Amino acid sequence: MGIHIDTSSAGLTEECLEKKRDQAEEALDLLWSGGEPFTGWVRLPLEQDEQSIETLLNVAAEVWTKCDLFVVLGAGGSSLGAKAIIDASKPMPHGFPNVVFAGYNLDAASLLEVAEQVRIQETCICAISKSGTTVETLIAFSVLKEVMKEKYGQAANSRIYTITDEKEGALRQETQAEGYTSFVAPANVGGRYSVLTPVGLFPLAVAGVDIKALLSGAEAMAVDPSWDRDAILYAIARVCLNENGKTIEALESFDPTMETFGQWLKQLFGESEGKDGKGIYPTVLSFTRDLHSVGQYLQDGTPAFFETMILFDSSERDLVIPESAGADLGGLTMNQINDCVAKGVIAAHAKAGIPLITVTVPQKDAFHLGRLIYFFELSCGISATMFGVNPFDQPGVERYKHEAIEEIRKLRVGK
Ligand code: PA5
Repeated sequence: MGIHIDTSSAGLTEECLEKKRDQAEEALDLLWSGGEPFTGWVRLPLEQDEQSIETLLNVAAEVWTKCDLFVVLGAGGSSLGAKAIIDASKPMPHGFPNVVFAGYNLDAASLLEVAEQVRIQETCICAISKSGTTVETLIAFSVLKEVMKEKYGQAANSRIYTITDEKEGALRQETQAEGYTSFVAPANVGGRYSVLTPVGLFPLAVAGVDIKALLSGAEAMAVDPSWDRDAILYAIARVCLNENGKTIEALESFDPTMETFGQWLKQLFGESEGKDGKGIYPTVLSFTRDLHSVGQYLQDGTPAFFETMILFDSSERDLVIPESAGADLGGLTMNQINDCVAKGVIAAHAKAGIPLITVTVPQKDAFHLGRLIYFFELSCGISATMFGVNPFDQPGVERYKHEAIEEIRKLRVGK
């Protein structure tokens, strides 16, 4: 039922792991203390309000009756978590709307494509922005709202959902003025830690993901005493590896449906740790595809990285390989071969002295994905605190946004 963390191939000394234990435990206590800003997510799995979950499920059920297409508009933490879990849960169960994501880039061509789908399918849209100021999301929302209004007239408003701050921001004001059905993005939970709030749960419920199982998984993690040990171990191992000169973490999986989960991890660690000239640069690799691109580099290139590999003990679907594939492969299953390649990669990289941490998960269902989410959130909160940075702000992001807005305003002046 648990998740198993193995750092025995990370090349770490007991001395480093032990030396950092007190610091890691202090960081964990700080997160649990409830006194720190933006740590509302720590107690979230233990404090889920059943009534709110039922309300959310009822609204999702209402969406099922009227829509074939559900467009989620949100950037970064306002969409990556839900997309990660939907992609990892593929193939999705039948009978639920197709959930697609937009409003996270500035590509007109892909937005036009979504708009075309909105025109031809029964659609609902959900704009998610805690601040209500994210340019990508605002633009996509304005474009798709027009299409919805053209198509459904005044009834469009009953197909528009929002998730934003309870009181602040333009999106909350518009929600009140237009009467959209809405949920709250909790003030004390930052975007990249918000997948277990309505920000992630509502799109997931619409997609047919068992959100109660997801939350139970996170809850099981939060009440399991061995969990603290694992989250601490992973955090300490990463900090020790960084001290040993490893500045890059390759987040890897042999399951291609986990690639978006890797993107979610990339944001979680990158935005939480990467400040004040510190932190580990996260990169995401999907195997076996990327073994045929950067496999060579991993084996023999600049040894600035370590690997964190997410492995599953079992997989629901498998396929027997026809005899025509040859004497070595025919009659075996694809999962068997995938396991052999994983073992081969681990052995070859161990021989090259590449530090490797494995995170082994019994199976890839909503319950275990909930456990994984909570495990990584906690461990990231611990490691960022150990690096001596604030895990919950993103001053660098604010700086580029400020510069971009200045550029946009220059266009206006030029008009
Ligand atoms: O983790 C974060 O805080 C960010 O990635 C935000 O989620 C992202 O910038 C979107 O912000 P907002 O929800 O305010 O539109």
